[in-house]
Amino acid sequence: MAGMVVDLRSDTVTRPTPEMREAMVRAEVGDDVLDHDPTTLALEEKVAALLGKESALFFPSGVQANQTALAVHGRAGTEVVLEAGAHIFNYEEGAGAALSGLQLRPVHTDDGLLTADLVREAIRPDSPYIHPTSLIALENTHNGAGGKILPFTTMQAIRDVAREWRLPVHLDGARLWHACAETGLSPREYGSLADTVMVCLSKGLGAPVGSLLAGPGDLMKKAWRVRRRLGGGMRQSGFLAAAGIYAMDHHLERLAEDHARARFLAEGSAEIPGVSVVPPETNIVMLDLEDPAVSVDSVLAAMVAEGVLMVRFGPRRLRAVTHLDLDDEGVERAVAVLSRAVEESA
Ligand SMILES: Cc1ncc(COP(=O)(O)O)c(C=O)c1O
Repeated sequence: MAGMVVDLRSDTVTRPTPEMREAMVRAEVGDDVLDHDPTTLALEEKVAALLGKESALFFPSGVQANQTALAVHGRAGTEVVLEAGAHIFNYEEGAGAALSGLQLRPVHTDDGLLTADLVREAIRPDSPYIHPTSLIALENTHNGAGGKILPFTTMQAIRDVAREWRLPVHLDGARLWHACAETGLSPREYGSLADTVMVCLSKGLGAPVGSLLAGPGDLMKKAWRVRRRLGGGMRQSGFLAAAGIYAMDHHLERLAEDHARARFLAEGSAEIPGVSVVPPETNIVMLDLEDPAVSVDSVLAAMVAEGVLMVRFGPRRLRAVTHLDLDDEGVERAVAVLSRAVEESA
């Protein structure tokens, strides 16, 4: 990788491999809006089965799939309970309010991990003077909290609270695959704890585009209409779905490699004076600059000059994400470049 850019900004930066491109070129396609595209249908069936759901729908993006879930579960003027660092709350253009008239009720935690007690406290009791809760939205792994895994037992307890209140649960599982790779639990096991699950193929799995929303058949029929309303009906989507099928068949098994590289990056970075590291659980590493005199922007700029890219994730925090297009040499170079950048910026 010498001389090449080491891009750790996100696990979405991967380029399709030659084999994936080949699978895309060869895809059998139809018109998915008119009467289904065969490759898209095959991907949808594969993902639905994997998550233990009746049906799944292919979307161009995770945001659109999450927002479709909010639209089919929620009712205008009601609330969605979610963790304060959740993607749906912070990075989806206010779509819950703008598109579905939903109010989001963020629950603050120190570590990004909701608990059943916190969810219970946040649910609005039935009263003529209080607008009710209509949905609980979870995120696993939790991007903003550094790829943290919401423990399975916690999810079970939250599901029980949701049942008590007859509320649906949506799981933003953009990186659910990473939780599975680390815990050894299956997507089906996690899927059993939510009514709808969103998963991404473009993060970590190396596909260029694509997310799926899976859930009960009747709800997915409503979701089909919402997707179309949002402009997400795609025609020869099989070319993209083929990349997704290839990704699931060939890139799921290797996610543990990304987690090992994230640990390596964290351990190397923790030895740099002035840098403290949140130990990663999956593929996201949060790096904090301890010295207030060292600015995140100057460290990032010094790294860019040496071909290593990370992102700012707060006034003192950098985020680095490991992925398919990264090798051991790239991680070693990132640590060396970070070390020089912090030293130069002091
Ligand atoms: C947890 C989570 N949910 C949803 C999304 C949205 O996915 P997309 O960028 O495909 O819209 C992201 C994107 O990074 C994410 O990290």
